[in-house]
Amino acid sequence: MDLVTVTDDGPVRTVRMNRPDKKNALTLAMYDAMAAGIAGVKHNPALRSVLIAGSAQDFCSGNDIGDFINASVKGGTLGAPAIHFLDVLLHCDRPIVAAVQGHAVGIGTTMLFHCDYVVASSEASFSTPFVKLGVIPEAASTLLAPRMMGYARAFSLLVMGRPMNAVDAKEAGLVNMVVPPSELEAEAMKAAREIAALPPHGVAATRKLLRGSRDEVLARMHEEFALFQARLRTDEARHAFEAFLARKKA
Ligand code: COA
Repeated sequence: MDLVTVTDDGPVRTVRMNRPDKKNALTLAMYDAMAAGIAGVKHNPALRSVLIAGSAQDFCSGNDIGDFINASVKGGTLGAPAIHFLDVLLHCDRPIVAAVQGHAVGIGTTMLFHCDYVVASSEASFSTPFVKLGVIPEAASTLLAPRMMGYARAFSLLVMGRPMNAVDAKEAGLVNMVVPPSELEAEAMKAAREIAALPPHGVAATRKLLRGSRDEVLARMHEEFALFQARLRTDEARHAFEAFLARKKA
């Protein structure tokens, strides 16, 4: 089974996380496959928008914690594939729509700061338990979250690790629309097609202006990664990752 599927339907490319038994936790290979799928649109002018989706009941439960442990034990890093994936998201010149159902944890939530239109199922939940896990938030979320939703909500989400439900996420500006679970895929595809039908140069130019300086976002990502990697090597982080996996064995 492909853990990430990439399918083109007219002007829309869908990149789908497909590891339902692990709630679509992202492995290093999955980051690479997603990055390739998203980066690949630039070679085909007929592709006008990208749709990122999950599978079965969930969007994404974040980075695979087993990979975090490997990096932690080896004194390693977050991993080049994750960094490359975020870099590709940041530099993608086509609008990105996300269809979010179930759990959106960690990078499952922070990747949404780089999407342009987010459709959420009414039962979706958004959380970023980085600090609880002994690390820190990534994907320039420390810059983009307070800007988008204000400091109070950003602190609750990013530092306290409190989840947001779909309605909270819409009020916070992270989500564009909330729909019943059965309508999620159709609504997200409708939005992706609507965007794809617009004049592409006008879309690209306006989007670039709306998004502002990429250099600023990139600089924050690198700052976060340096801190993240330092935290990853701590006993505090390793114990938190091990506690998660031990919880499952109990
Ligand atoms: N990495 C590795 N495995 C993960 C995972 C992750 N990020 N998230 C879920 N899984 C695995 C679980 O270990 C479990 O595997 P098992 O069936 O072999 O035991 C399976 O996916 C199902 O998860 P489970 O915890 O049983 O589902 P749930 O519905 O009770 O809870 C979550 C769902 C997402 C709330 C919970 O799995 C969770 O908290 N995951 C970790 C999220 C996280 O901290 N990510 C990193 C963010 S920085």
